[in-house]
Amino acid sequence: MNLNIVTRDPEETQKLGKRISKLVVPGDLFAFYGELGAGKTCFIQGVCQGLGVRDYVTSPSFTIINEYKGRVPVYHFDLFRLNSLEEFLDLGYEEYFYGEGLTVIEWAEKVESLLPFGHLKISIEFFNYSQRIIYFATSSDRYKVFLKELIQSENIRD
Ligand SMILES: Nc1ncnc2c1ncn2[C@@H]1O[C@H](COP(=O)(O)OP(=O)(O)O)[C@@H](O)[C@H]1O
Ligand SMILES: [Mg+2]
Repeated sequence: MNLNIVTRDPEETQKLGKRISKLVVPGDLFAFYGELGAGKTCFIQGVCQGLGVRDYVTSPSFTIINEYKGRVPVYHFDLFRLNSLEEFLDLGYEEYFYGEGLTVIEWAEKVESLLPFGHLKISIEFFNYSQRIIYFATSSDRYKVFLKELIQSENIRD
């Protein structure tokens, strides 16, 4: 199942993230794709805000993972600087992927083979300077339901 949404500025991308946060349950995993500056972190900031995270959310480029406390804990991976799969395996990633938090992964293509079947792909592409096309895709039933709920939530104000 696929869903595309165009956002016109960073605030709209964050709002979409916030809308999605309402549907998050423990153990969820979102895999993000998109070039540098596409808006992955921006989207994740919205998700975290919606989950009540108080920390300032930024790309954890030098630490690979940041953890935040929220309604559901958030495990935020940024794999831009990941050099090898081995390095990732050393993190004990299973504790996160199969844990009780929401896992969000920037540059998920670097660990594609390790992603559990049940995950939501979120690809962000440049449309122009301030517009982005956000593609959601999944093969798993859990996230098909999730995307349907997302569509239904369109008219709900927060
Ligand atoms: N529609 C949009 N959605 C998200 N970010 C946007 C949008 N338009 C412009 N931007 C800008 O693009 C940049 C996205 O940065 P960031 O979220 O850190 O990207 P990434 O994590 O993908 O490298 C920010 O400077 C943001 O202000
Ligand atoms: Mg980023």
